Amino acid sequence: MERLAPHKNGPEFSRIIAGAWRWDIAESRVSQLIQKSLEVGITTFDHADIYGDHSIEEIFGNVLKKNPSLRLKMELVTKCGIKFPSAKRPKSWVKHYDTSKEHILWSVDNSLTKLGTDNIDLLLIHRPDPLLNPNEVAEAFVALKKTGKVRHFGVSNFTATQFEMLQHYLPFPLVANQLEISVLNSLALFDGSLDVLMKHKVSPMAWSPLGGGKLLSHDQQKIFSKSQAYGATEAQLALAWLLKHPSSIFPVIGTTNPDRIAESAKAIEIHLEVQDWFEMLKVAQGKEMP
Ligand SMILES: NC(=O)c1ccc[n+]([C@@H]2O[C@H](COP(=O)([O-])OP(=O)(O)OC[C@H]3O[C@@H](n4cnc5c(N)ncnc54)[C@H](OP(=O)(O)O)[C@@H]3O)[C@@H](O)[C@H]2O)c1
Repeated sequence: MERLAPHKNGPEFSRIIAGAWRWDIAESRVSQLIQKSLEVGITTFDHADIYGDHSIEEIFGNVLKKNPSLRLKMELVTKCGIKFPSAKRPKSWVKHYDTSKEHILWSVDNSLTKLGTDNIDLLLIHRPDPLLNPNEVAEAFVALKKTGKVRHFGVSNFTATQFEMLQHYLPFPLVANQLEISVLNSLALFDGSLDVLMKHKVSPMAWSPLGGGKLLSHDQQKIFSKSQAYGATEAQLALAWLLKHPSSIFPVIGTTNPDRIAESAKAIEIHLEVQDWFEMLKVAQGKEMP
């Protein structure tokens, strides 16, 4: 598996990243998914404090605690900043965002405990917070870097302007913006989100690269009319479509199936022809390029 740094000052990640959002499953199955990912060269794992109603970091961490050497073979990404009502968070009565310094610091400590590690490779602000105070975020990031609790910082679901605004207040570069991108949801390619990342030489991370599974439903099959010609599965072609973009997108896959993890890793070997790339986009959008 190709490895690449999403920014020259950033960590080195596997080009395909395993997302843990749907890993609200038995610890033994999470252990299998981790083993399979590492076996096929997927070494980067994407978490958030809230995944599985705040449970998945802990399930994953329990696997690491039983096999401490695993931590040395992987990079961990996690996120913070979303709060919602839950028995585990009785103080929240409405879904909201919290990017205060106090919450960011608390959330990182909490993630470190749950994941059973003493550092996080990349911390992302999960969603743009309308009440985000960039000075506070900067103070929190600087403190976390100083203590070594977090190595690198980024954002998720930020617009181009929001990305540049926060960057302006930081003494070091943001190394990621994790966005929803797939051939079904290609807005980021056209609304400036990817352009601004290329300007800052940051490679995007793409969540729901298969549209959360929708891309593989019966009514989307026409997008993959060339799959036989490439000797590829539909999922592989959907990932290859992202991998072709010159910003060096890191797809964050979400499968809970070890065989599909192996299948996804092979997407890296597929190189789409330009016209096939545009043809997939045309079918997905239901119209030709203007
Ligand atoms: N930053 C954010 O705001 C944000 C938001 C959402 C997600 N994420 C991240 O992105 C990751 C991926 O999101 P996602 O789960 O929606 O990604 P996805 O890869 O687009 O979708 C995964 C879903 O597709 C299904 N699927 C069906 N056929 C498949 C095949 N042939 N190969 C692979 N999967 C197939 C999977 O089911 P099976 O499990 O049965 O294979 C699973 O339910 C998450 O885990 C999370 O880390 C981030």
